[in-house]
Amino acid sequence: MTTRYDRRGFMGFCGKSALAAGMAGAAGTLPTAAMADLLEDAPTVKLLDKDGAPLKASELAPNTTLIFNYPYVATPVMLIVLDAPTEADTQTKDGEGHTYLWQGGVGPGRNIVAYSAICAHLLSYVGHETAFLHYNTEENEFGHAKVITCCAHGSSYDPANGAKVVAGPAEYPLATVNLAYDEAEDSISATGVIGTELFKKFYDSFRQDLRSEYGRAKYRKIVTEGAVALPIDEYSEYVLEC
Ligand code: FES
Repeated sequence: MTTRYDRRGFMGFCGKSALAAGMAGAAGTLPTAAMADLLEDAPTVKLLDKDGAPLKASELAPNTTLIFNYPYVATPVMLIVLDAPTEADTQTKDGEGHTYLWQGGVGPGRNIVAYSAICAHLLSYVGHETAFLHYNTEENEFGHAKVITCCAHGSSYDPANGAKVVAGPAEYPLATVNLAYDEAEDSISATGVIGTELFKKFYDSFRQDLRSEYGRAKYRKIVTEGAVALPIDEYSEYVLEC
């Protein structure tokens, strides 16, 4: 069930958790190299529906948002079905100023895109309890439509353009999750992550929460089999709107 929160009502909580996230990330306790090495081997993982069958790209309605976890079992990704094809090979800049090519949408309509659902500002994310980010087709309270909005502090990202920052305090795009489309099977697979991924900071910041949610032995594992993609309002108990 989706519940609308009064944004002002949760800002205190969110501001504190985001600040804590930034501080914990800066302190850093996990070895960066280990995480980076794992990412280089990010697996190709097929996206599945809730019954475990391959997700059919042609059956996904425009303006749908699904959430799956990738490349780690605890790191959320937004799969968004846009209402129009995207341009391919858009030049994008990561958090260190390096350029990379965003490949554009996949699927029969070239309109299916995926991004890490961890905000590039202070790591607010789409969790099972609360989704701080969502895709809004209508204008958000910051004056932008068809953007991914993080309700923590209003960062807005353009999903049709590599998740470039449109508004708000974030300084660089959400990390892209590369997708591949199998035309014969009409299926979609996640094939890797490009851009500024924040997984190390995310794990540093939310270790206790993630351990209790996914289990101490499992919470940092790489996804190796299919990833179930759920509608955002089934994945999260509360989807914040702003
Ligand atoms: S955490 Fe600040 S805008 Fe997302």
